[in-house]
Amino acid sequence: MVKELRLFSRRQLMATASLAASTAAAASFGIAYASPLRSTPGQILGPFWPTQAKPDLSGDLTRVPGSTGRAMGQVLHVSGRVLNRDGMPVPNAKLDIWQANSFGRYRHPSDRNPAPLDPNFNGFAELASDADGSYRFVTIKPSSYPVDANIIRPAHIHFDVTGRLNRLVTQMYFEGDPYNASDRWLQSATRPEALIVRPQLPTPDFEPDSRIVTFDIVLIDG
Ligand SMILES: [Fe+2]
Repeated sequence: MVKELRLFSRRQLMATASLAASTAAAASFGIAYASPLRSTPGQILGPFWPTQAKPDLSGDLTRVPGSTGRAMGQVLHVSGRVLNRDGMPVPNAKLDIWQANSFGRYRHPSDRNPAPLDPNFNGFAELASDADGSYRFVTIKPSSYPVDANIIRPAHIHFDVTGRLNRLVTQMYFEGDPYNASDRWLQSATRPEALIVRPQLPTPDFEPDSRIVTFDIVLIDG
């Protein structure tokens, strides 16, 4: 995604002089231009939308109010930008995020997984993108979980993103998950690779055993 953005920036600089004239000409002839970025593929909402929970508004899902403990699992610092296909930031987009805990269990009455709940993890947050479209939150890496006796879903985090013009419901997955290749939902995406992130080792300003995840989200028009 970063590479795509850099390409766009260079192309944008080189083409700025002729863009206005050519766009006007294209409009008059009904010619459609390809956008420099491709929109992030959508995914199903799933059955565990947290209907009965209050979202965390702090951006730190690893802690819950009233407890000094911290959620169990691999801490992730997730950030990215909400953009439109022209690479322009989408400020003040609303992002709802929900996920299973490190045992693969959602805090949801419909989740029949016998895996334990984590008292320090609710797995539901509401965020807003900044003026430059950026967002960030801290969470733990969810576990894969069984859908039935024969199907296991790979680890993923759900996103419901509402911009000014578009809403996108999708899921973010993790590179190397053994269940990615067989997951019917991930593999049904137009570009599954656009939904898979590679956690990186932390920079010195983060906990040494945490990981950094970057996930840009491209809405059609913003
Ligand atoms: Fe899920």
